[in-house]
Amino acid sequence: MAEDVNILEVLDEVQQNGLAALATVSDEAGLQAWRTAHLGRSAPVMLAFTRLGQISKELRPAVGQKANQVKLTLEAALEERAEMVKTASLRQKLDTERLDVTLPGRRTALGRLHPAAQALSEIIHIFEEMGFQEYRSPEVETDELNFELLNIPAHHPARDMWDTFHTTQPGTILRTHTSPGQIHAMRELCPKPIRVILPGMVYRYEQTNASHEIQFNQVELLAVGKNITMGDLKGTIQGFARRMFGETVRVRMRPSYFPFTEPSADVVMECFVCGSKGCQVCKYSGWLEIAGCGMLHPVVLQNGGYDPAVYSGFAAGLGPERIALLKYQIDDIRYFWQNDIRFLEQF
Ligand code: DAH
Repeated sequence: MAEDVNILEVLDEVQQNGLAALATVSDEAGLQAWRTAHLGRSAPVMLAFTRLGQISKELRPAVGQKANQVKLTLEAALEERAEMVKTASLRQKLDTERLDVTLPGRRTALGRLHPAAQALSEIIHIFEEMGFQEYRSPEVETDELNFELLNIPAHHPARDMWDTFHTTQPGTILRTHTSPGQIHAMRELCPKPIRVILPGMVYRYEQTNASHEIQFNQVELLAVGKNITMGDLKGTIQGFARRMFGETVRVRMRPSYFPFTEPSADVVMECFVCGSKGCQVCKYSGWLEIAGCGMLHPVVLQNGGYDPAVYSGFAAGLGPERIALLKYQIDDIRYFWQNDIRFLEQF
């Protein structure tokens, strides 16, 4: 009997202990743990309910009532504490995450086109404005298209100008220039007049240095029709240079040699870095080379399907990286494919 009376005191103690423990709880995890310990299935107050049957009939209602009241008190206290914890954490969040709306925004890192791609698209754009259409031809070529049909037979000494990457397939190479595109374009478009540009990557089996790379872009220029003259070629090149480098730039053509053009020329441009006075960029000559060009050789016209007695044409090959080097005064062509972000970010 004495034990039964004692149980009321025990329940009081359970309540006190519970409330005391609850007062120290300050976060969500603590609330969960407290709920399990003080209101869970094996919490002392819950055990009182399950053991009610073992208590004498007279005391049973009092103990039941007491246990019920303790449970309700603890539940109410829990709810209050939970509310407090929630407000406190919200306040803390507001304190630590204060937002200064007057601060300038963070700059987003913008991606951009590679400088070679920028030069390439600028060149393409200029020629498109002048009436040339973009035409693509393959990077893996046959020896026949890359050399033979361009009037460069096997063992011809001019082959020395193009150190070549060969594939394991005999007669198949990586194109050393975009000029084989001339044959592709002529064979496809013959006998119509042609105004095309052929941009793309070319490959050379070379020792790299500040001005030589094993891969770079070229833009081939091709015009075929009746009565096309060297004057048309010069005007086209001049028009291009003015659009690319400014109205006052001076351009001249210097006799040169390419097996697929006759006559052939190198296009040199006045060095804008030093105003033609002579500097490191132009190697103290005052002039910079930007392209090779010439009138289509009769053999090449014929190989493209055009009768050289009726048709004539001009071609040129420009190097976008070279043009970018000159335009931005970059002193080493190898930067283009090193992928150094410090270099790329400058354009
Ligand atoms: N294909 C030549 C090279 O890579 C450049 C060239 C010269 C292209 C004269 C032409 C041309 O179309 O007429 O060195």
